[in-house]
Amino acid sequence: MIDQYKRNINYIRISVTDRCNLRCVYCMPEEGAVFLPKSDLLTDEEIIRLCRCFARLGMKHVRITGGEPLVRDDIVSLVGGIKRLEGIRRVTLTTNGVFLREHLSGLCLAGLDGINISLDTMAPDRYRHITGKDCFSQVYAALEEAVQYKALKMKINCVPMTDTSEKEITDLVGLARKNPLSVRFIEMMPIGLGKRHSFRQEEELRCLITHTYGALIPLPPSKWSGPARYYSIPGFLGSIGFISAMSHNFCKECNRIRLTADGHLKTCLQYEKGLDLKSILRRETDDSSLERAIAFGIYEKPDGHSFHSLTYPEFCEQNYMSQIGG
Ligand code: 5AD
Ligand code: SF4
Repeated sequence: MIDQYKRNINYIRISVTDRCNLRCVYCMPEEGAVFLPKSDLLTDEEIIRLCRCFARLGMKHVRITGGEPLVRDDIVSLVGGIKRLEGIRRVTLTTNGVFLREHLSGLCLAGLDGINISLDTMAPDRYRHITGKDCFSQVYAALEEAVQYKALKMKINCVPMTDTSEKEITDLVGLARKNPLSVRFIEMMPIGLGKRHSFRQEEELRCLITHTYGALIPLPPSKWSGPARYYSIPGFLGSIGFISAMSHNFCKECNRIRLTADGHLKTCLQYEKGLDLKSILRRETDDSSLERAIAFGIYEKPDGHSFHSLTYPEFCEQNYMSQIGG
């Protein structure tokens, strides 16, 4: 599918739940989050049906996100069902890792191709401070086990804030020294609670990483690298990546759309609502009207975000990131 700005859209992120077992300060409120009733969530069958339509329209990569996707029942069979669809080449998962260990072997057997673990620090007390829960050791154990699965492409996602210390950054980078994984630093976007936090920019992170570990050597972009730009460091098994929506706008190369847990097709992270695919899906038995709606939605994908605009438009996304899936 090519959109009106001639971008090839082949990647969809599917949020399978708006719930999460953690409360990261920049993502979910500590108290009072309101969740979708179960009847509003897409069922496994509905997600598979939509994925079949997405695949026919040229989507090749599906990423399962949340909230926290592993709080949804039967995630393993959902991954397997999507992976078996004709045209889908990769199925990956973004998780906070707390419940990952018990699902790892099942997910791998179901054909999962990669896992992104969200991890902002290697210090257990800071982990508790950021996420509200004392779960660092579970996440770290899952990470250590996951890197043993050679077929899994592993990434660690960190959103560094201004109060993230240099040591926290360099300790995270250290994970890529001894493991074949990518440690990626994501600039905080002004979405939901993210508006209330200041973040560390790519330039300063690169300086302090270089200072500790030596030169960052740019790696050529790969087919699946998306908006991230990757670097190697001599002696490292893994790589370091940066996703810098704020300091390096990448909307011109955007290849992705999103499906929210209640079935809205979101074609740009910044803009609210999107197309209500669930209503069409529950009304129509024939896939062709669904595919027409999706194709129209993709064609109309906005040209990009305007996070830097002083007059932040009113039609902007008002949801929390946990409701969108990152
Ligand atoms: N800006 C950038 N990334 C965010 N995430 C959550 N909120 C934001 C934000 N405002 C990240 C999480 C997780 C991924 C799903 O999205 O840290 O890694
Ligand atoms: Fe949960 Fe991820 Fe949001 Fe943290 S960032 S509260 S782990 S959805």
